[in-house]
Amino acid sequence: MDSISPILWTGDSLRLLDQRKLPGKEIYVEISEPEEVIRAIADMVVRGAPAIGVTAGFGVALASQTIINKSHEEAVAYMKEFCSLLGKSRPTAVNLITVVDRMLKVIDKLMPYESMSQALIKEADNVQNETLVSDMNMAELGSKLIDIDSTVLTHCNTGPLATSGYGTALGVIRRAWELGRIKHVFATETRPWFQGSRLTMWELKRLGVPATLVVDSAIGHLMNQGYIDCVLVGADRITANGDVANKIGTLNLAIIANSLGIPFFVVAPVTTLDSQLLEGTEIHIEERDPREITELFGESISPPEIDSINFAFDVTPNDYIDAIITDLGIVKKPYINSIKDLNEYG
Ligand code: MRU
Repeated sequence: MDSISPILWTGDSLRLLDQRKLPGKEIYVEISEPEEVIRAIADMVVRGAPAIGVTAGFGVALASQTIINKSHEEAVAYMKEFCSLLGKSRPTAVNLITVVDRMLKVIDKLMPYESMSQALIKEADNVQNETLVSDMNMAELGSKLIDIDSTVLTHCNTGPLATSGYGTALGVIRRAWELGRIKHVFATETRPWFQGSRLTMWELKRLGVPATLVVDSAIGHLMNQGYIDCVLVGADRITANGDVANKIGTLNLAIIANSLGIPFFVVAPVTTLDSQLLEGTEIHIEERDPREITELFGESISPPEIDSINFAFDVTPNDYIDAIITDLGIVKKPYINSIKDLNEYG
């Protein structure tokens, strides 16, 4: 497959593949104003936890290019204010805030303008390169967990579009397919943004991986009829006890898989671990504009003035998860211990 580059730094601007337009149109938006990066993340031009982190890194680099005429104090104050707003653009994916904090450490070194800007570009570049390396590690480790000739089920989009690397859950799936371990993939459409039907199916088709799209509510039937050998999903935030926030609907998959004895695997880099939070109830779940569910392509599909709530994520309790595949190793229950060991010893 020709590689997908959803996030490109040009030297003085950021080019983002507009994921809202896929698969119909492959259009890049060129961003030269830092505030546009915040909007692009909030409006889903770019999405997926690691890709949001990479974009945030370049967003801070971009902001540093606008401070040239400011005094040092003004520049640092502007950069910190920008980082604070950027960090709030989407609340659930921890990668966003982790990268912003990483960039703030560079800003805190209080370098003169030129070197600060260069150091921030370098740091954003490092984040992107490290993302690819960790994706490859997860793919290698995780693919060994998949039995030969498996049919797998996945949710949302966790491929290169979601990381700007090789992918998390979809990275494991494509590597396992290359190794002859995967026979077929089922992907959920993933309402309301259709990351599954629009993005995952697009990526799988480009890769040549045999795949079938199903509606979100088909998962119980699929699993109960014996179609699925294991389930692989990504994560937006994993707490110290192994609870996992991921795209809304992940919990349904986990409960059904668990009750039918189907292995349920989460694939996420250690940068998605949030050891500051002990358990999933502490995770801030993003609620998005209800019009995302009451409208389709700008057309209303519900009666006017109804009540609706649009949760973007849910939390899967660790008990339903058979293994978490990270870039530093595969962890299993009890997660409170295995995640702590991973953080301490890598
Ligand atoms: O709302 P999105 O599209 O940003 O949600 C994406 C997901 O939930 C993914 O599963 C998650 O970020 C892991 S992706 C590598």
